[in-house]
Amino acid sequence: MKRPLNVLVVGSGIAGMSYAIELAGSAIGRNVRIRLLSKAPVHASSSYAAQGGVAAVMDARDSFDGHVEDTLMVGGGRNEPKVVDRIVREGPHLVNKLIAMGASFDADVSGRLHLSLEGGHSAARVVHHEDRTGAEIVRVLRGRVRALPMIEVWEGWQALDLLVQGEHGQRRCAGLSALEQRTGTMHTLQADLVVLATGGVGQVYQHTTNPTASTGDGIAMAVRAGVPLRDMAFVQFHPTAMYTGTSGQAFLISEAVRGAGARLLCHDGKPLMDGLHAMGDLAPRNVVARAIHREMERSGTEHVWLDIAPVGAARFAREFPAIDRRCGELGLRPVRDLLPVMPAAHYLCGGIATDDRGRTGLPGLLALGECAGSGSHGADRLASNSLLEAMVIAMRAAAIAPTYAPSDGPITANAFAEFSITGRTHASIDRAIRDLRHAMTCHVGVVRDRDGLACALRTIAHAELVVARRWVRRRLSDGLFNLRDMTAVARVITEAALAEPRSVGTHFLADEVASPEHRSSRSTKIQARFARR
Ligand code: SIN
Repeated sequence: MKRPLNVLVVGSGIAGMSYAIELAGSAIGRNVRIRLLSKAPVHASSSYAAQGGVAAVMDARDSFDGHVEDTLMVGGGRNEPKVVDRIVREGPHLVNKLIAMGASFDADVSGRLHLSLEGGHSAARVVHHEDRTGAEIVRVLRGRVRALPMIEVWEGWQALDLLVQGEHGQRRCAGLSALEQRTGTMHTLQADLVVLATGGVGQVYQHTTNPTASTGDGIAMAVRAGVPLRDMAFVQFHPTAMYTGTSGQAFLISEAVRGAGARLLCHDGKPLMDGLHAMGDLAPRNVVARAIHREMERSGTEHVWLDIAPVGAARFAREFPAIDRRCGELGLRPVRDLLPVMPAAHYLCGGIATDDRGRTGLPGLLALGECAGSGSHGADRLASNSLLEAMVIAMRAAAIAPTYAPSDGPITANAFAEFSITGRTHASIDRAIRDLRHAMTCHVGVVRDRDGLACALRTIAHAELVVARRWVRRRLSDGLFNLRDMTAVARVITEAALAEPRSVGTHFLADEVASPEHRSSRSTKIQARFARR
């Protein structure tokens, strides 16, 4: 018997776990050893926090064409249509598979799935478990992972860099270096296949719905190994994160709340989205986030209001129990009180360039989920398409047998092999992280312009210098590794934004040099499409 295929999956969210489970259950499953590395516990992942659900065509009145068309419209035509088509068509199979695995999704009295409506969708098609869909899917996948002996979960391991074997056209991924957080020691982990499923980049912004682990490490590792990325300019801002006056991770108010009837209000009480878009409060996220940004600027405030009254207290408590509870903790009484909301960095639409089976530009390396850019989301992501995409591509990736890496040839040196971290982070690192987040929020956020993007690059260069200074003296710490990844990601986002000459999707250039015809014909097309419904 051949030695087992040695697979390292980085990230224990829905994408990483789905891949591990599928590979373990495949024809080669008996002869694989899968290590699932994660720097944070599974309940601290973006997947676990996902409220909305899984967009899928589950109703006879809906259609694949409709779901595809909505995805392309929100994506500003920058999506890969074939990838979108494949993912959308797999939706019902995926949902049924999750149900067969034990996932419980909300249903009406006759047992039909309850489908919620979210922004950009022309039909209600979001399958969900209350407002805790991610937690429910994670529960099911986690149970399956535990039951499969070929999968080992290594929690508290932070991947640092990819190991690359060979040169030029013969390069392939041969493993990675990783920090064992408990002991503070570095390790070289060789592998036949590495799968990056490290999630998003929200932590490079001041306000984000992402957990603290979302520092873009998988993408930064790919950058350092010269693996191609795509669509990095497109950072989606969710319009309705709860405003509390603090920075860092912000609690999300699901778009399904607006799908149930909640309305955004300006500070003078007027409906915010009236007259701005034919889909009103459920316009694509980039449109709503920009309208909120404008109102915040006009009024000189840091939030707008969400009025829950149209949903009604009983329905709100029944359908959104987690949000209802959080409001209570913050001393807010939904329906009686308006909820203060603001846009927050939510999802990276691009990432490490892959095909529809997660294959990257580096043999031996796959990328899945939010850190991957399969082209399915284009310039903005249709609501609740992310869990769908992550799981469908993970299944497709696991369906092709990975090839063994050649075992000869030098491997790029692991620069840290003989080092341990010094433990505490340093004030200069904390300051550089704060400045970086501030610059990204002010200049590479909902609204951008060229001067601002250039200014952000200067702040990024300063943070890179802080990293370099401590690096050469080997003053290694968790904070330094995080800053190193965050600067790499901030740079590629900002440079990608500078390279986009026109506003599209989440990338809005206030100083765009575009003909007025270009702008109006695009918005007229979108408006006309929804006016028809
Ligand atoms: C939401 O529930 O509003 C978020 C869902 C998503 O990001 O797709």
